[in-house]
Amino acid sequence: MNCSHVPAIGAAWDQGKTETSYWAPIFRGFEFSKKWIADLKPDVVILVYNDHASAFSVELIPTLALGCAAEFKPADEGWGPRPVPVVKGHPELAAHIAQSVILDEFDLTIVNKMDVDHGLTVPLSLMFGQPKEWPCRILPLPVNVVQYPPPTGHRCYEFGKAIKKAVESYHEDLRIVIFGTGGMSHQLQGKRAGLINAKFDKAFLDNLVKNPRKVAKIPFLEYVREAGSEAIELVMWLISRGALENEVREVYRFYHVPCSNTALGHLILENKRKTKRKKR
Ligand code: DHB
Ligand code: FE
Repeated sequence: MNCSHVPAIGAAWDQGKTETSYWAPIFRGFEFSKKWIADLKPDVVILVYNDHASAFSVELIPTLALGCAAEFKPADEGWGPRPVPVVKGHPELAAHIAQSVILDEFDLTIVNKMDVDHGLTVPLSLMFGQPKEWPCRILPLPVNVVQYPPPTGHRCYEFGKAIKKAVESYHEDLRIVIFGTGGMSHQLQGKRAGLINAKFDKAFLDNLVKNPRKVAKIPFLEYVREAGSEAIELVMWLISRGALENEVREVYRFYHVPCSNTALGHLILENKRKTKRKKR
């Protein structure tokens, strides 16, 4: 499941504005998805997002990290922490994934204490609404897309494949969904603030489904030039795409402009074949 993680969506939830004329079409775009995930009943969500200088800062910027703790609290991003449930992790699965991808030569940062910001909590609200507790375990997987240089699209795609391999070799048979969040086109600062490029976004969605290798070759400058400085968040969608089979079925797509300063994109993909558990 991929979607934008606009912070104003969280504020709309928390302030009871989901029915207003501005927000209602956006939340309607997730009606199908809420039912899809409720029917699927995942045990674990691996949630690829970026920290927006909430848990990390300019003093410490891991490129690829994984939350391995038992729980993660919502971060205070200036308006106080969002009134959403504490995120429960899955330390055993996280430790297994960390071991598998590091031995596969991805230099992952292991994080044993971390608060989680809108990049993680907004996609959870969109997919699960406002429950007392999140209905599954969540593995936060923060990626640096804030300070240049972020990991390349190709690196993200290959990292997704390493996560797939790790998940398939886990001893317990779990139902796992991976979320890739952020994007789509947006720029929050400078002369081009407010930039949206629907043509770029739609081509990105089409190619992510059918030709992810082509998407993995998009250079940083193309994201920034065509879709704005914060569109670089889209490299995270290549991690979730890499974790799937080459051949996928497009289950659902939604695209809406504007959502705060952002083009909101949302895409659900499923493997065509049921994934077999590999031997450890
Ligand atoms: C907005 C979008 C983001 O992805 C973000 O991290 C912050 C703000 C916005 O559209 O306002
Ligand atoms: Fe963001």
